[in-house]
Amino acid sequence: MNKQNHLEILPPRRSIIWDDNHIRFIDQRLLPKEYRIIETDDWQVVAEAIKGLGLRGAPLLGVAVALAVAATAVKTSGSSDKITTAIDGLRKTRPTAQNLFWALDRMSKIVEEAINTKLDQSLLTQSIVNEALEILEDDRNCCSYIGGNAQSLIKDNARILTICNTGFLATAGDGTALSAVYRAHDDGKNIHVYACETRPLLQGARLTAWELKQAGIPFTLIVDSAAASLAAKGEFDICIIGADRIAANGDTVNKIGSYQLALACEAHNIPFYVAAPTSTIDFKCMNGDYIPIEERPAEEVFNIRREIITPEGINIRNPAFDLVTADLISGIITENGVEKPLFM
Ligand code: MRU
Repeated sequence: MNKQNHLEILPPRRSIIWDDNHIRFIDQRLLPKEYRIIETDDWQVVAEAIKGLGLRGAPLLGVAVALAVAATAVKTSGSSDKITTAIDGLRKTRPTAQNLFWALDRMSKIVEEAINTKLDQSLLTQSIVNEALEILEDDRNCCSYIGGNAQSLIKDNARILTICNTGFLATAGDGTALSAVYRAHDDGKNIHVYACETRPLLQGARLTAWELKQAGIPFTLIVDSAAASLAAKGEFDICIIGADRIAANGDTVNKIGSYQLALACEAHNIPFYVAAPTSTIDFKCMNGDYIPIEERPAEEVFNIRREIITPEGINIRNPAFDLVTADLISGIITENGVEKPLFM
């Protein structure tokens, strides 16, 4: 069953919930113009939403695919074949975010064990649902811990620069880099956020601006290319970004534009932090060169509001992420604390 309900809303600072064996999530393709909830128990609806960035942000991708597998298990009464088809299909949606593969590996392990031990289908369903709910709950908790652990780095009157959207829209909880911002604001610190618009899909202009405005947190939106000159003029004190995948040596892949922020911070002695749960760390990946970088369609670049803005037939590249090497990172804020960027 799939139904779209245009009227309902999710609880405050929530982008995804599990309700009556269905997933309910905010369709981020439409924000900030329209707030629409999609309710589904069909993994293919989730897969399409992920490909089109209706669901996005590394931690949220992990939670969403886990819940999609859980919905499949319930709907098919624990058919291991159907669950495996869902897992395989969800693996092909986006290549970079570690959390997506981490969550699907957890699901695969349960199915494999069930097959090996000839587990009853209803028990398999229950295990899959429990695992997915644990992933959701753990992500919410990680967000809170990340927000708390970041506070030693955020002084009163801090001006914080960030990119993309790392808030409640990108996780099952309050976010990663934005969880730090929410917590500082909730604790009564006087802060100001500089949000990069994040071309080409404008996660900063559309989503971070929407979140911060709702929360009443003072912020200024800038075009991505303004960040370096703000750094040169000392207009922000700290940069905090999220991560899509962190290699064992601390190299971090995040939204395209993150690398130039790190270089600008390095040049102007501004601390540069990454905030992410440990589920974003790919311990098997020795360094960032092994992390696959998604290339997205050229039309995301040449099309602005359904208007073609370039001459026809030109060459366009649209890498969705870039690599910030560990030497440019002051520290990684996880649920465990602020760590040196090295996990080997
Ligand atoms: O392409 P997106 O919007 O999924 O990219 C998201 C990011 O790059 C985020 O910074 C990252 O996933 C961390 S979200 C807490």
